[in-house]
Amino acid sequence: ELAPEVAQHGVEGIVAYSAVCTHLGCIISQWAADKKAGLCPCHGGLYDFAHGAKVIAGPPPRPVPQLPLKVENGVLVAAGEFLGEVGVKAEAGFCRHV
Ligand code: FES
Repeated sequence: ELAPEVAQHGVEGIVAYSAVCTHLGCIISQWAADKKAGLCPCHGGLYDFAHGAKVIAGPPPRPVPQLPLKVENGVLVAAGEFLGEVGVKAEAGFCRHV
């Protein structure tokens, strides 16, 4: 179910993203199975990882960036830098829930 632009940076359907929510910096630590989306528990941000971590609910202002993957010597490793800015823009502040 991965979008082609997402799958191209993964390995056999495995993809990786930053876990730092773009709203106020909490960790996207839960999985909302009914929505097939990553959930940030602080304010209910939902990210659709199959479609570029598009925000489908909650206050996050933008997707979290994907981390390209590759297999090297039989081990899954990062293939490069994150494909976008990680975390919260400086002016947004940080969440104090963690
Ligand atoms: S910090 Fe993630 S939704 Fe607010």
